[in-house]
Amino acid sequence: MPPWTLLGVLSLLLVVPDALAVKSHDFKTCSQAGFCRRGRALSARAAEAKSAWNSPYSLDPASIIIASNKAVFTAGVKSALYPEINFGLELRVHDDGVVRVRMDEINGLRKRYDEAASWALISEPQISEDITWTAGKKDIKAKYGNNEVVVAFEPLKISLLRGGKEQVVLNGQGLLHMEHFRTKAVEETKTEEAEPKPEEGAEDAAEQVVMKVPEVNPRAWFEGDTEDDWWEERFSTWTDSKPKGPESLSIDISFPSHGTIYGIPQHATRLALPTTAGDSPTFTDPYRLYNTDVFEYLASSPMSLYGSIPILHAHSADSTVGIFHAVGSETWIDVAHPTDKSTTTHWISESGILDLFLMPGPTPADVFAQYSALTGTPVLPPHWSLGYHQCRWNYISSDDVRTVQKRFDEEDMPVDVFWLDIEYSEDHKYFMWNEKNFPDPVDMTNDVAALGRKMVVIVDPHLKRTSTYPAFQEASDRQVLVKPPSGEGEYEGWCWSGSSSWIDFFNPNSWDWWKAKFKTTALKEGWSWTSSTTDIHIWNDMNEPSVFNGPEISMPRDNIHHGGWEHRDIHNINGMLFSNLTSQAVQERTDPPTRPFVLTRSFFAGSQRFGAMWTGDNLGTWEHMAVGIQMVLANGIAGLSFAGSDVGGFFGNPEPEMLVRWYQVGIFNPFLRAHAHIDTKRREPFLLEQPYKGIVKDLLRLRYTMLPVWYTAFRETSVTGVPVLRPHYVMFPKDPKGFDLDDQYFIGNSGLLVKPITTKGTTKTTVYLAEDEVYYDYFTHHAYRGTAKGKEIDYTAELHQVPLFVRGGSIVPTRERPRRASSLMHRDPFTLRVALAKAGAARGELYLDDGVSYAHEKGQFVWRAFEAATAKKTVRVASTDLGAARPGAAVDGIALASYDAGNKFAESIADVRVEKMVVVGLSGKPASVKVDGGAELVWEFTPGVAAGGKGEGVAGVLTIKDPKVRIVEDWAIIIQL
Ligand SMILES: *[C@@H]1O[C@H](CO)[C@@H](O)[C@H](O)[C@H]1NC(C)=O
Repeated sequence: MPPWTLLGVLSLLLVVPDALAVKSHDFKTCSQAGFCRRGRALSARAAEAKSAWNSPYSLDPASIIIASNKAVFTAGVKSALYPEINFGLELRVHDDGVVRVRMDEINGLRKRYDEAASWALISEPQISEDITWTAGKKDIKAKYGNNEVVVAFEPLKISLLRGGKEQVVLNGQGLLHMEHFRTKAVEETKTEEAEPKPEEGAEDAAEQVVMKVPEVNPRAWFEGDTEDDWWEERFSTWTDSKPKGPESLSIDISFPSHGTIYGIPQHATRLALPTTAGDSPTFTDPYRLYNTDVFEYLASSPMSLYGSIPILHAHSADSTVGIFHAVGSETWIDVAHPTDKSTTTHWISESGILDLFLMPGPTPADVFAQYSALTGTPVLPPHWSLGYHQCRWNYISSDDVRTVQKRFDEEDMPVDVFWLDIEYSEDHKYFMWNEKNFPDPVDMTNDVAALGRKMVVIVDPHLKRTSTYPAFQEASDRQVLVKPPSGEGEYEGWCWSGSSSWIDFFNPNSWDWWKAKFKTTALKEGWSWTSSTTDIHIWNDMNEPSVFNGPEISMPRDNIHHGGWEHRDIHNINGMLFSNLTSQAVQERTDPPTRPFVLTRSFFAGSQRFGAMWTGDNLGTWEHMAVGIQMVLANGIAGLSFAGSDVGGFFGNPEPEMLVRWYQVGIFNPFLRAHAHIDTKRREPFLLEQPYKGIVKDLLRLRYTMLPVWYTAFRETSVTGVPVLRPHYVMFPKDPKGFDLDDQYFIGNSGLLVKPITTKGTTKTTVYLAEDEVYYDYFTHHAYRGTAKGKEIDYTAELHQVPLFVRGGSIVPTRERPRRASSLMHRDPFTLRVALAKAGAARGELYLDDGVSYAHEKGQFVWRAFEAATAKKTVRVASTDLGAARPGAAVDGIALASYDAGNKFAESIADVRVEKMVVVGLSGKPASVKVDGGAELVWEFTPGVAAGGKGEGVAGVLTIKDPKVRIVEDWAIIIQL
């Protein structure tokens, strides 16, 4: 939801799709943010000084303390410029090889915010038991496995090496600078005293430390010679009071042997991050991480958006490493490539400590595992939430909802969820129904639920300041609202609900109270949402937070949160706490708990534990359609796989061609929702003319047939952290030709490769095949053959067609019976597409459970492996159980095979059949097809038609009508050639 409705209307009429619609002047550039300007000035001075530049920071070897467990060491760090200031460095090595580097000011005038990691991490990581630090004269080293960490004392430099090769280097360029807390100089002298006087004792100390810094005014040489916005900062009409003074943190992180980096969402950019520094950078500003409600954002820009995850992957053909910086304040990141094969980054944060996690890889999958061990894997969402979500600002009444549902059913279009935006509520007091338009919310929800569907209703974090609104009044009474800079009373700002206040979720007193608000039954004490049902799930919007009359449409940075911390310290974490508590609330409405669905706009590292995100208020333009894919891929890299961008674009009225192409993008997003601004024309798919309507109906059905693939992929990411959507570098880390590819990707480990068309009037495209393997067109079974060096194939996709391939060697489970909602597919039979690799083998997986409860954690699930093998003149396709082998299953004392007694879920689908098996890529007509130990089956064979190069052309296809096997059982089908 954008802040300026009226302006929104005007700009829609006047300028959309003009890409310059964003009001850039509402948001800071680096040069308008004091600490970013200081950080960039530091790197500019370093660049100018070239080899004469030296970091003033050094480690005092005499202060090193190695903990008795040997995996942790601490040491004192000093800056030669401020010898009286003490910094503490701590290094620890985790049992998975991750190195954590923390640095803070010790006994400073004030305390830096050091709790970002406590919100992001799932638990205190395990420290490795076999690390030994060896301290020498110039450095201290730890070798473990093939890795080594080296901390050089002077200047301070920390390197992670593998096989003797530098992977990550901190402060290699000397840009480390932790601005210490200072006392504010008296007003009159401030302007005259441009160069701060060296403090007492500075000279003595400077003698002890051998520094190659100029003798004349070394502080100005390093820090600059003005107190640039140290104590107060203005932006537009706002003044940020900065009572703590300068406390920013700058650090360079280099990847000497990695030429490509990915991550640090959320930005509307290519997946492989373009440069912002060095020679002729693509963008002139650094990537900004500062959660903001950016109205009509640009389709290519390093500007910040709604969420921030400070993690990146650095990649090369022989190694992938990762960096995660647990910092919750505004952060800017410059990216440069000194050579094709190296990358430097410069991180500049407004406040907080240095708390860096160096993830050694060496493969993308390893980095995903290392990051998941820190911040958690995505939760397994409710199965229905992978269906189609129909949203609009707004369905205006309960009868409107009923009519929309009826129209979907009349057209036989599948849909799972109807959404209500802010206008369901009375005066934007969330939870409170507008009784005129929604007189019967429970009946309405029951009418939706009667057809197996759900509703999602918006609950935003701004609370209308009125005593007649229980959510506000109770929060006010409990004193859990964010405070103004004075630290007294309640901060008041402007949002949809007019004069509003915001709950401070950093205050533990807000937690149980907030969760209780979602109860559908009356509480002993206080208000609860009795006019709702457990079929209603929640959408958290505006949680950056968006404040219409605040600086950069957000909260003043000097507002005060629990513990006396300023908003600036926790800004990027704020939105995550809201969706965390909301998802707990929705989960705990029932006993036993059921899986919540909570969509959030704002997010941080760890948000993957709480639900889905979407890419916010996108525009109905082709550029936004295309960048939406790249943004969803980038979110997956950062752990947040359950992501999507609004189908159709939030703003504008997409023409039918665009809408159809957008559904093709949407059905291959993990989260599939159509949404539209209040000023757009209605565009539910049933309103389209033919042939568009029929095309979209087929696309939605295609999504539903593939729900087993999506759900299986979500199970995998919930265990491994490897994203649901996998770009090429994740699939083929050694193939440099794929490093920059971000318009085609794989779905989980299903072998499905998709490349949606995202340009107008286009029916021809090329698809990159990275390996010497056959890829089959999903629909026609045409076989294409890649090469070991990678090959582009030409592909034609008319408007009703989407380029979708099955990688040879995959077995894809689908459910092909059209249904109105996913819950009605629970007992539907399966189709198995066996796509034989050139060598005749194939493999696939299927994961199923009840989709709503947590019974799967107690072994109530079915997890099967399908394997095809070709030997001599026999192809054998077999199904085996993976459930009993599932890691962790036995930990609960339960290791249920699919067919074990006691696996109630498996029992509930015991008679569900495989109704069809399609074997693609058979070299010739079979002599017989039987279930192992059974009679001949009914089958037909369509011979292949060779065309083009070796192995290309239409593949030979065997279709077995009713293979007479059940999904929960072990079986084998023998194809005799
Ligand atoms: C958030 O979620 C985690 C579970 O992932 C929980 O342990 C934590 O206490 C939650 N609460 C807050 C306020 O972040």
